Amino acid sequence: MNKTRMMTLLLAMVMSLAVVSLLWAGTKVEDEFVMQTKEYKKHTYNLVHFTHKKHAEEYKISCGECHHDDQGKALDLKMGDNVQRCIECHTKPGKAPKGKGKKKLKGAEKRAYHAEALHQNCIKCHKAFNKSYKKEHKVKKGPAPTSCKKCHPGGKMK
Ligand code: HEC
Ligand code: HEC
Ligand code: HEC
Ligand code: HEC
Repeated sequence: MNKTRMMTLLLAMVMSLAVVSLLWAGTKVEDEFVMQTKEYKKHTYNLVHFTHKKHAEEYKISCGECHHDDQGKALDLKMGDNVQRCIECHTKPGKAPKGKGKKKLKGAEKRAYHAEALHQNCIKCHKAFNKSYKKEHKVKKGPAPTSCKKCHPGGKMK
C-alpha cells in the first residue's frame, strides 16, 4: 500500500468514527450530571447538578415534560431514542438582555436564550409541585428548589 492510499484509508476511518459518534451523541444520558452547556463562553453562576434519572423515575415525570419537538410539542420518548440538546433550538447562551430602555423580551423571543428556556422549564414545575406539596403536607416549604442559591449552589460564582 502506498502512502496516499494509506492516508485515504485512515481518513475514511476517522470520518466514519465521527459519523458514528454523532449518531450516538443524543441517545445516551448520564443518570446525574452537572449542567454545563459547552456553548457558553463562561458560566457566571455555580453549576447546577441535575438528577435526570431520579426526575424521570422517582419523581415520575414523563420525558415530554422536558423534551419536545421543533414545534414545542411534547415528545413521547423511551430510553435509547435520539434526543436533541436544549441549546440546539434555544440557541443563545445565557439570559435575555435586560438593557435599560429596551423593551423586555417575552415568550419565544425570550426563550431563544437558553437560560430562560431552562429556568422556565425547571422553575415552573418546581413552583407548582411545591404548592401542592405544601397544601397536602401542611408545611411551609416544598422540596423542589426555586431559588438561585439552591439550584446554583451558593449562587453567583466568586
Ligand atoms: C425534568 C426534565 C427531564 C425529564 C423528565 C427527562 N429529561 Fe432527558 N434531559 C433533560 C435535560 C435538561 C437534559 C440535558 C440537555 C442538554 O444538555 O441540553 C437531558 C438530556 C437527555 C439526553 C441526552 C441528550 C444529548 O444529546 O446529550 C437524552 C438521551 C435524554 N435526556 C432522554 C430522556 C428520556 C428518554 C426521558 C424519559 C425517560 C427523559 N430524558 C426525561 C431533562 C429531562
Ligand atoms: C427541536 C427544537 C427544540 C429543542 C431541542 C428544545 N426546544 Fe424548547 N421549544 C421549542 C419550540 C419551537 C418551542 C415553542 C416556541 C416557544 O414558545 O419558545 C419551545 C418551547 C419551550 C418552552 C415554553 C413552554 C413549553 O414547554 O412549551 C420551554 C420552557 C422550553 N421550550 C424549554 C426547553 C428545554 C428545557 C429543552 C431541553 C430539555 C428544550 N426546550 C429543547 C424548540 C425546542
Ligand atoms: C415537571 C416537573 C419538573 C421539572 C420540569 C424539573 N423538575 Fe426538578 N424536581 C421536581 C420535583 C417533583 C422535585 C422534588 C421531588 C422530591 O424531593 O420529592 C425536584 C427536585 C429537584 C432538585 C432537588 C432534588 C434532586 O433530585 O436533586 C433539583 C436540584 C432539581 N429538581 C433540578 C431541576 C432542574 C435543573 C430542572 C430543569 C433542567 C428540573 N429540576 C426540572 C420536578 C421537576
Ligand atoms: C431549578 C433550578 C434553577 C434555578 C432556581 C435557577 N437556575 Fe439559573 N440555571 C439553571 C440551569 C439548569 C441553567 C443552564 C446551565 C447550563 O446548561 O449550562 C441555568 C443557567 C443560568 C445562567 C446562565 C449560565 C451562567 O452561569 O451564567 C444564569 C446567569 C443563571 N442561571 C442565573 C440564575 C439566577 C440569577 C437565578 C435566581 C433568580 C437562577 N439562575 C435560578 C437552573 C436554575
